[in-house]
Amino acid sequence: MPHSVERLCEARRSKRWVHRLRRWLSPPLPLIMNPGEPRDFPLGRWNLYIGGGGCQTPGYVNIDLFQLPGVDVVADAERLPFPSDAFSRVECDAVLEHVREPEAVMREIERVLAPGGFAHVVTPFCHPLHEYPQDYRRFTLAALEHMAGGLSVVAKGWRTGPTATLLLFFFEYVKLWLPWRAGRILAHGVLGWLLFPARYLDLILLRRPEAGRLGNHCYLWVQKPAPGRPENP
Ligand SMILES: C[S@@+](CC[C@H](N)C(=O)[O-])C[C@H]1O[C@@H](n2cnc3c(N)ncnc32)[C@H](O)[C@@H]1O
Repeated sequence: MPHSVERLCEARRSKRWVHRLRRWLSPPLPLIMNPGEPRDFPLGRWNLYIGGGGCQTPGYVNIDLFQLPGVDVVADAERLPFPSDAFSRVECDAVLEHVREPEAVMREIERVLAPGGFAHVVTPFCHPLHEYPQDYRRFTLAALEHMAGGLSVVAKGWRTGPTATLLLFFFEYVKLWLPWRAGRILAHGVLGWLLFPARYLDLILLRRPEAGRLGNHCYLWVQKPAPGRPENP
């Protein structure tokens, strides 16, 4: 029996007409990325993408728990099968909530990162339950910073804001009242198309520090100190 992650991946890529129709009718995401989040930290010869099953990740070695399309190496992020100091950049986006020991993953990221290299970690704070394949926890920005350990924090903030949180929870709440899958799909489509423009309110709210009180996902950029080299780009 395929796992929830495998089923999701299959539905995203399937050529069956039901899946095509659903993709075509699906509303835009109820969230907008913070334009202030930095993205220009350099890639190197070897870069690692953790948990990119079903994604195209050019320039990265893509690892995931499952043998999904796009995955180069099937591995558990808590025990990365790579030598120390191997990667110039590591991406770990929306994965730490799914692992049993997020601290262990952070220590593995620290180990495999080359001195001077950068890692980007994104985690949910206010977000509905999503089991890929399990959902163990949520993170505040302070918790993420605490887990940086020996890595230096070079940037931090909120990727998606309070309006994304409200919309996501509202959609989930409405779906709780609908016993049939078809009703839930319809509600998701109708509410999604009606309410997605509200996501642009986060372009205003994300400029305020208080946005984190109801933030949806937070991010951290960290750098592994390199002896004798100045930190930060
Ligand atoms: C929510 S998805 C994130 C996908 C991608 N980063 C994105 O933003 O679209 C989480 C992914 O992490 C993978 N994953 C969960 N636990 C893992 C683990 N212990 N080691 C490696 N990958 C894991 C799941 O299989 C899934 O593909």
